Amino acid sequence: MMITRRNMLVTSVAGVCVLATGRAWSAPPPLKQKQTYKVGFAQTESNNPWRLAETASMQDEAKKLGYQLVYTDAASSAAKQASDVNSMIAQGVDVIFLPPREDKPLVPAILNAKKAGIPVILIDRDVDHALAKPGEDYVTFIGSDFVEEGQRVAAWLAKAVNGQAKIIELEGTTGSSPANDRKKGFDDAIKQWSGMQILASQTGDFARDKGRQVAETLLQAHPETTAIYAHNDEMALGAIAALEAAGKVPGKDVIVVSIDGEKDAVQAIIDGKLAATCECNPRFGPKAFSTMKEYAAGEKLPAYIKNSDSFYDSKNAKDVLSTAF
Ligand code: AHR
Repeated sequence: MMITRRNMLVTSVAGVCVLATGRAWSAPPPLKQKQTYKVGFAQTESNNPWRLAETASMQDEAKKLGYQLVYTDAASSAAKQASDVNSMIAQGVDVIFLPPREDKPLVPAILNAKKAGIPVILIDRDVDHALAKPGEDYVTFIGSDFVEEGQRVAAWLAKAVNGQAKIIELEGTTGSSPANDRKKGFDDAIKQWSGMQILASQTGDFARDKGRQVAETLLQAHPETTAIYAHNDEMALGAIAALEAAGKVPGKDVIVVSIDGEKDAVQAIIDGKLAATCECNPRFGPKAFSTMKEYAAGEKLPAYIKNSDSFYDSKNAKDVLSTAF
């Protein structure tokens, strides 16, 4: 809820405030300052290099700080991820880091943690703010601006094809914040160019093989395709395999663009098969844990902490290959 002059706080007891309007508003539970913490990290899945890099970064940072990390892998199931969070609550972790697989199903678990007095920090993906709010139900959201990523890819593509393209879009996991926002960013941005047309848009669930299968089907239905925009590199690499299987030359017959910046994608740029990828940085560990410590110290945190991303194409791919994940 927005605090305005009219609904100013009139009382504040144990983190629960009553507004002049009579509506209760409460901040996320506080976190004590301690030497060490038991920290939960409920990962969504481990089926791509981006997820593995995120997990490694969280594990490395916890180890460096000497904190106990309770790690779970939801194996691509929002229901399992919710039960993983509930089990962390039962184990009495001090704080939970969560990349919610989808933007609605994880909300009850976030609210359970709040009720149990455990602060939740969302990393990488956000939830639907109509159902849960940063600074109220969870501490903050740390991550990339997915709308901006979609916009940057659209602008790069439009320039590369002189504003003329017949596009297949491979969407990420349905109901996830990156899929929603990367679609919005890209689809809205290309409206500026009348010659940029989306022929078909379908989910490939952020997975390489699903991306390959969906691209195969959509290419058969739309042989006139000249560009593929994938919401992540794994699906773009699947689409490149589908193009090759269909006897087309990626980078020549069809230009492929995507998001993430994983090593295989950077190599595909060097090989001329992928045209460009907007980085989405998965190395959350240092920022996630420093944010947690700031919160424990009572610092006022913003509702959104933005990760800034680079952009890779043939001009800089060779320079970043060795450091890509
Ligand atoms: O939430 C970030 C996205 O999720 C990454 O782009 C993708 O590769 C991952 O699975």
